[in-house]
Order: sequence, then C-alpha cells, then structure tokens
Amino acid sequence: MRRKVIAGNWKMNMLPNEAMAFIENIVPVIKNTKNEVILCVPYTDLFYSLLTAQDTNIKIGAQNMHWEESGAYTGEVSAKMLKSINVEYVIIGHSERRQYFAETDETVNLKIKTAIKNELKPIVCVGETLEQRESGKAEEIITTQTKLALEGIDKNDVSKILLAYEPIWAIGTGKTATSEDANNSIKAIRKKVSELCGEQIANEIIILYGGSVKPENAKELFSTSDIDGGLVGGASLKVEDFSKIILSV
Ligand code: 13P
Repeated sequence: MRRKVIAGNWKMNMLPNEAMAFIENIVPVIKNTKNEVILCVPYTDLFYSLLTAQDTNIKIGAQNMHWEESGAYTGEVSAKMLKSINVEYVIIGHSERRQYFAETDETVNLKIKTAIKNELKPIVCVGETLEQRESGKAEEIITTQTKLALEGIDKNDVSKILLAYEPIWAIGTGKTATSEDANNSIKAIRKKVSELCGEQIANEIIILYGGSVKPENAKELFSTSDIDGGLVGGASLKVEDFSKIILSV
C-alpha cells in the first residue's frame, strides 16, 4: 500500500510571521494523521518554517531551484543551498513556472537530476492545458512530459521522486477534474512509469493530484485507486481548509 501524501504549495503567499503562525496552529490539529504532510513555502519562509516545524510531522519543501550546482546565476537558489538548511522536498516544473518562466521539459529533467544528486526529493508536476484536453491530447501530453522528466534517471532514483498531475485548467479556477478523470490520467502516468522503469517502481511511486483540491472534494479524489494524495494551492493557505484536506483520508 502506498502512503498518502498531502502537500501544500503556498506559491507567492505568506510572510514569515504568517508561516510560523500557520504551522503553530495546524500542528495540534493534524498531530495524529498517518498521512505525510509537506508545505512548499517561498524561499523567504523556508528557515522560519523549518524551525517552527521541527519535531512535528510537517515536512518543508521549496517551490523551485536551479539545475547548476553554483555559479553566476543572479537571483537563483541551488539544491545545495536548500539542502544546507534541511529542506527535504522541492517542487519542479510547476505549470506556472513552465508558463511564466520558460521552464521546459529539458530544464525540468536537469533540475530533477541535480535535486536527486543533492538528496532533495523532487515533486515533479505534469499537466495539460484545456485546449490540449479538448483536442483529445491530454494523455499523450502528460505521458510525454513524464517520459522526458525521467529521461536518464537511474531506476533506483525514480522511486525517490513524487509526481503530481496538475491539469492546468483546474489550477486556481475552482474547476476540479472529476475523481474518475483524474484517476484515469494518473493511471496513464503510472503505466508510462511502468514501461520506463518496471512494474514495481510504478506501483511504488507516489502520484498526487493538484487543481482546486478543497475540503469538499479531497476525500473522493484521494479514495480512488491511483491518486496518492494532493498538491494543494489556495486551500493550503488556510489552517481550517488544509487540515480538513489532510484529515479527509
Ligand atoms: P489550486 O489548489 O489553487 O488550484 O492550485 C493547485 C496548484 O497549482 C498546486 O501546485
């Protein structure tokens, strides 16, 4: 049985004092969950969040990193920098980064390799646009993104990766994929992982769903055969909503 993972993606929200208050307030509410809980916070919140989350069941992740180890890349943050303060996870290839910051399947692949090399666990996002879905290309798009993301990565390292299926049309729009559609897309991604790395790794790899996950739809989504939890944007900014999502399964 795969574990359930509920990850929050705060995006460009929350100041350090808000981050610390959020963590202090949610810890007692979720202390008995068996699910893995991750908060992916802005860089400026990382240190404060790590301190506040120490000795709790909340793990902290970043939302991006550069693929080079170091160098003249003004404004960028390296995997080693994240690792040096005990960050555990890092989101890679979020659709907002692909869309607004020109990330490509190639840079996503490079970043995954550097993250693994530095013992960070990547949460790798794939997902189709509405246009691609409506023209019947969704499955092809997400399985190709998965293949290119995993290219050249040792099979033993693939199980360290978490994948997240986030249909772009469902992000921040209030439109959620039906649990059946989301589960089918995630099944297709798992099948691609099986083709590339074998059945055992495909059965082990955690694949999350993201896109307007809310307290009202979390249980149904997370109770399907292949959805192992959620990558939650808007609803991860409120203790009440995020804790309900964590406690829904
Ligand atoms: P929303 O939950 O706000 O739709 O965002 C999803 C997302 O992009 C998480 O990474």
